[in-house]
Amino acid sequence: MFKVGIITASDKGSVGAREDKSGEIITEIIENRGYIVSSKIIVPDEKETIYNEIINMVDNLQVDLVLTTGGTGFSERDVTPEATIKACDRMANGIAEAIRYYSLSITPRAMLSRGVSGIRNKTLIINLPGSPKAVKEALDYILDSVHHGLEILT
Ligand code: MTE
Repeated sequence: MFKVGIITASDKGSVGAREDKSGEIITEIIENRGYIVSSKIIVPDEKETIYNEIINMVDNLQVDLVLTTGGTGFSERDVTPEATIKACDRMANGIAEAIRYYSLSITPRAMLSRGVSGIRNKTLIINLPGSPKAVKEALDYILDSVHHGLEILT
């Protein structure tokens, strides 16, 4: 059974000023697949904090998959892709490309997500956009193929 860590990057969410709907939706979809959510955390949009949490989930908790939501856009505080790139040994660009490809058929604004995907040790890390709608759309499209990728990584 694959173990999953979920990181919501949100300045407002981290101080309790916004409900973490996207993190909840990820949890629901992931548990419906039979995966185990080992850790779920909300952090502010700080590169070092997001990086440290990815490292903790991969190196200490040894999850198979880290899903992040939020912080992939153009605002100055959006730094999730940079934190993810720093944590990865190898990039897995196809997953981020697939998310943008599918999402573009829903909204042209999908091109504004800078999300990346990559691998640290044997853990896959995937950036999802921040909105609950975007999270669901992206996961529905990628999860079958991601499952196959996780089997190869273990
Ligand atoms: N992808 C999907 N599937 N559906 C969406 O509604 N919204 C886009 C994009 N990707 C969207 C999407 C928008 S409006 C933005 S600004 C970017 O994701 C970045 O979002 P983030 O900064 O919350 O990560």
